[in-house]
Amino acid sequence: MKTMMLKAANGAPSARIDAEVTMQAIETVSMPLRESATEALDHPVRGRVNAWGLRLLDAYFHRKYRDIKREAFGGLPRVVVEIGAGTGANLRYLDPGTRVIAIEPNVHMHRYLRAAARRWHVPVDLRAATAERIPLPDGSVDAVMCSLVLCSVRIPARALAEIRRVLRPGGRFWCLEHVAAPEGTALAQVQRALARPWHWLFEGCDPRRDVTGLLRAAGFASVEVRPFTLHTGIVPIRRQVAVVAVR
Ligand SMILES: C[S@@+](CC[C@H](N)C(=O)[O-])C[C@H]1O[C@@H](n2cnc3c(N)ncnc32)[C@H](O)[C@@H]1O
Repeated sequence: MKTMMLKAANGAPSARIDAEVTMQAIETVSMPLRESATEALDHPVRGRVNAWGLRLLDAYFHRKYRDIKREAFGGLPRVVVEIGAGTGANLRYLDPGTRVIAIEPNVHMHRYLRAAARRWHVPVDLRAATAERIPLPDGSVDAVMCSLVLCSVRIPARALAEIRRVLRPGGRFWCLEHVAAPEGTALAQVQRALARPWHWLFEGCDPRRDVTGLLRAAGFASVEVRPFTLHTGIVPIRRQVAVVAVR
């Protein structure tokens, strides 16, 4: 059994847990192949464009997020579920050897994700599934993470219920998300003006989603939210939050 420290959003050690999770202990909930395949996001054009675009933006986002992601995702337990892992942008912030169960419905991301896993020495168990139906048993993991995903999931309340379900009591969910700007601000106007094309282009991404409100309503024992501004020319995503929620 391995004992480790978990970090709060401010980087300070905040809880001590016994992480006896091994990949062997986490059994997959059996799901018929056909069913899981229909959950894949495999639009022949947009799926590829998004995968390629994310890969292209990898270095840019690393420059923008480096410090905040190191703080949020550094020192996580040795087994982590990552929702919407994309092209593997977050793997570099995990300790080498961390095992990641990656839930990624866009199959066009998978080859980039596998390459990132090799590059950062983070073994990945990749599932073409969605956050709304995570193929893991109840209470089977200590840590779930994601970035820039809750804006895109089709049924966010169900996705959050699923994240809670797979976490053990006391387990944590770390996420970084862009959020809706307060009404009346210039940023809110930009988000409103771009919402429709944005949603189409980025496969369901809603720049106006009240992610913080959804997290607070999701039944976690505690939700710690740290707002920050991402200094980026991608204006609709400038307003963001770093969240740690405890089941
Ligand atoms: C903007 S990308 C972010 C990717 C990665 N997390 C990052 O920060 O670079 C959004 C990701 O969420 C995934 N996604 C969309 N809908 C999803 C769902 N219902 N369940 C899980 N992932 C989803 C997309 O396929 C995509 O990989």
